[in-house]
Amino acid sequence: MSEARSVLVCRRLLPSGLDLLEAAGCEVREAGLEADAGTLRKLAPGSAALVADPTVPVDSDLLDAAGPALRVVANFAVGYDNVDVEACRSREVAVTNTPDVLTNATAELALGLTFAAARHTSGAEATLRAGQWTGWDPGAMLGLELSGATFGIVGLGRIGRRYAQLVEPLAGEILYVARKPKPDAEAELTARRVGLDELLRSSDVVSLHAPGGAETRHLVGSPELAAMQGHAVLVNTSRGTLVDSGALARALEAREIGAAGLDVYESEPDVPAELLDAPNCVLLPHVGSATRTARDEMARLAARNVLASLEGREPPNRVA
Ligand code: GLV
Repeated sequence: MSEARSVLVCRRLLPSGLDLLEAAGCEVREAGLEADAGTLRKLAPGSAALVADPTVPVDSDLLDAAGPALRVVANFAVGYDNVDVEACRSREVAVTNTPDVLTNATAELALGLTFAAARHTSGAEATLRAGQWTGWDPGAMLGLELSGATFGIVGLGRIGRRYAQLVEPLAGEILYVARKPKPDAEAELTARRVGLDELLRSSDVVSLHAPGGAETRHLVGSPELAAMQGHAVLVNTSRGTLVDSGALARALEAREIGAAGLDVYESEPDVPAELLDAPNCVLLPHVGSATRTARDEMARLAARNVLASLEGREPPNRVA
């Protein structure tokens, strides 16, 4: 087998993608879920393609270990803040992602987290499971009603827009923050573009849908949480780095905001102890795109991006 068809899957790829690669004659090695950076550097030499995911830092060391045969880093995710894009560019290595196919799954999970956080369902269920439910109580476990609520969406890209469509039937108003105005979304959703400050002050629910990376690091910290309403719900299904988790835990503890629903963390898979202990906080283990449909399609897209790159065609989802 020539180097030109050697693919290193840095963790694991579902059969829907593996089958495509193997049918096209690729030699695929899967490093497995436990592979660390050292293992990947040992496996990388001679690879023409790396299939990575948000847990795999693709840095200069890994690219150099792969060597000059490397054509593409195919990220199994829509976000690619784990990839050093400049280091790829300077080595003429393409970077691809898996957009669109996970939009519904991730927006649906954000909606689920919104309901769960607003109605404190994790805490309520924990109380029941612990045998501490003493019966129907008119004043217990009171949450936030979402009908008529103002939804503030930070980042009106594909997932943010789908979330907006899903909440629209409930929403009193939809506000959004985006670098550029989105006239078509405004017409479709009667959404209004505002600054982050106004969005935080006016929204009952704030849902984050911006990419990770240096520019958005701690976009929501102590001052932003202080600007939110006392009953407001914060939902994050994008990247953990958008939120200062210590500040969020303190805000929940001090009842500065009403609740939070999180699917992502600053340093996964570590979940800060203070968040585990914080009241009114629903925590999920980064499962935004985890539907069978989305993950199968993501694997296919990653494989198609690899194959196009190795065959000298433009990969369908090139981001760099
Ligand atoms: C998952 O986190 C993704 O970016 O697709």
